[in-house]
Amino acid sequence: MIIKPHEFKSSSNLTEADVTPESIYRDRRKFMRQGLYGLAATAFTGLSPSLFANKLNFKTTQYGAKETLTPEEAVTSYNNFYELGTGKEDPVRNASQLKTQDWTIEIEGHAEITGKFALEDIIKKQQLEERIYRLRCVEAWSMVIPWVGFSLADMLKQFKPTSKAKYVEFTSIYDPKNLSGQKSVFSTIDWPYVEGLRMDEAMNELSFMATGLYGKTLPNQNGAPIRLVVPWKYGFKSIKSIVKIRFTDQMPQTTWSQIAPSEYGFYANVNPTVDHPRWSQASERRLPTSFFNLKRIPTQMFNGYQEQVAHLYKGMDLTRNY
Ligand code: MTE
Repeated sequence: MIIKPHEFKSSSNLTEADVTPESIYRDRRKFMRQGLYGLAATAFTGLSPSLFANKLNFKTTQYGAKETLTPEEAVTSYNNFYELGTGKEDPVRNASQLKTQDWTIEIEGHAEITGKFALEDIIKKQQLEERIYRLRCVEAWSMVIPWVGFSLADMLKQFKPTSKAKYVEFTSIYDPKNLSGQKSVFSTIDWPYVEGLRMDEAMNELSFMATGLYGKTLPNQNGAPIRLVVPWKYGFKSIKSIVKIRFTDQMPQTTWSQIAPSEYGFYANVNPTVDHPRWSQASERRLPTSFFNLKRIPTQMFNGYQEQVAHLYKGMDLTRNY
């Protein structure tokens, strides 16, 4: 639960810290934490770290209310997060390599307010809400995920972008000392991971910053403590563990479009009529699938979000601007 600092403490919401000298409180908390972690390690080894995530306070919304959710276990154990390894199960296995304490986000470029901000100061200005969105990976699998977070537009407005801001560039954490994927000499990625949106895409009502899923804080493997979610684009646009946001007048050089420009574009809008050079994008595997359930479902234009976003691309040739 997020405690808003401006909330006046009444006797009913006093915490132990308010009535215990700090040193005693810290030691006792440390002792309790170590005890709990020890217990957890022996009793629950092998289970998802999301079990230990904090419950969040949020309001529900109508976004995706009728969708059938992908089970939490699949959402948190089948991931793409190359900083933590390239295998689908590497991110959950290596989740502890991602250090999320004292997280800050740097705001740069064409905005009136720039600088380094503590994540909690950014979050406390926002009202958390839940949105259920479909996530369609460029690899042709998909999930339905109940995210918790806030609108990207609301967050960006905090920093008052100027009229020179035509694009927004996002950068993920760079920590090769801890993140095995960044340490690896075999990595094809020129770290850190970078993504971007055109300003009007970023300000679209669907663009979302997630700090949680399934009602709890975001598990590390899903991009803790804060990640982007752009549901009408292929999943690689939804950059994880963001440390920097830059307002720019140039189209950002994004990670996958630099590695393989003929396979991954800047726009990367979900489009069943434009195949990936190596596979069809006409259909997708809705996870979880199994040996007995390999059923595919048709992929929808803009992942089914045409009504909200088709106007952004009026007059553009979407077979070329992929
Ligand atoms: N962000 C970073 N920093 N590193 C990554 O490797 N993978 C992307 C995207 N964001 C990736 C990333 C890809 S390819 C997908 S499909 C989604 O994250 C997967 O999100 P999920 O693991 O939460 O389902």
